[in-house]
Amino acid sequence: MSTQPWFTLGWGEEGVLLLDQRALPEREEVLTCRSLEEVARAIEELVVRGAPAIGCTAALGVALAARVSRALGPAAFAAALDQAHERLAATRPTAINLFWALDRMAARRAEAAARGDASEAIAAALLAEALAIVEEDGEICRRLGHAGVELVPDAARILTHCNAGALATSAYGTALGVVRAAFEKGRAPTVLADETRPFLQGARLTAWELQRDGIPVTVITDNMAAHLMQRGEVDLIIVGADRIAANGDVANKIGTYGLAVLARAHALPFYVAAPCSTIDLATANGADIPIEERGRDEVAHFGERPVLPDGVPVRHPAFDVTPAEYVTALVTERGVLHQPGQESIAALLRGHRG
Ligand code: MRU
Repeated sequence: MSTQPWFTLGWGEEGVLLLDQRALPEREEVLTCRSLEEVARAIEELVVRGAPAIGCTAALGVALAARVSRALGPAAFAAALDQAHERLAATRPTAINLFWALDRMAARRAEAAARGDASEAIAAALLAEALAIVEEDGEICRRLGHAGVELVPDAARILTHCNAGALATSAYGTALGVVRAAFEKGRAPTVLADETRPFLQGARLTAWELQRDGIPVTVITDNMAAHLMQRGEVDLIIVGADRIAANGDVANKIGTYGLAVLARAHALPFYVAAPCSTIDLATANGADIPIEERGRDEVAHFGERPVLPDGVPVRHPAFDVTPAEYVTALVTERGVLHQPGQESIAALLRGHRG
């Protein structure tokens, strides 16, 4: 039974509290962000990462900016909130949950302002909204996880990439939420976690959280996946998503597309688990999804150790796009969508299946 005996993110008297994921698995340290700028940097520097967790953190960041600025005059308060929105929106471009959460905070602010609320009351409304986003995220992941159990046979050997777990959400996780739900139902899944170069979210984070929950996990380097599929050691692949375009194309951690192609070559099911807030109907297809390019350091070093000759350039796209045709099913809190496409996704968001 998953009890999640660790803290991922939340609100404290002094500001936004974040488990510092850079320090895992060596140390469990909680970082306190006392200003909007500290929250924005924490997102950029991957203290907190994973699309839903980024959205939750941005919402808490707006609440923090409101709290810090609430004694200013109305015009300065409004300007501080505009600036908070803009700064947070510039942190990570691919995860749509970031923009979804910021839009939700902006709507709540507009509602309070239209009522004629004073700054103090607007700040309170924004904190309540941010806390609701955090709370709902965990509930949505639980629903999503349980919806996905039908895809997991007994004793399934599940390959996953990056970390789409409790550390990437406010609780429970998306891809790992499905694994957790299957484990809780006694299906005895085992997990193969891609280490996920260059930031090692699979090795450092997925392995850490599954081990904490007592779910069997084995780490492989990214280039071992094809070999293990060929030898019949993988039953299914399940990953999270940073953004799903209207036609069902999926942006997720770099390396995901390769796994989808391998899954097709080996006739294995390739599942994507994500909340509806990850679906972006305003983006027609994967080619229109902005792909974050990160700096040189994460590629040019393995941990602290430089692994490239000085002066050799690198490329570092942090995400790739898997075409919808490779996705066997999409698991959301509203249920499982087999072979997702434009029409079925639109219907899902309207509240109907099919
Ligand atoms: O760069 P990251 O660690 O933020 O990338 C995270 C991923 O790609 C996850 O798979 C995705 O955000 C889904 S998290 C539930």
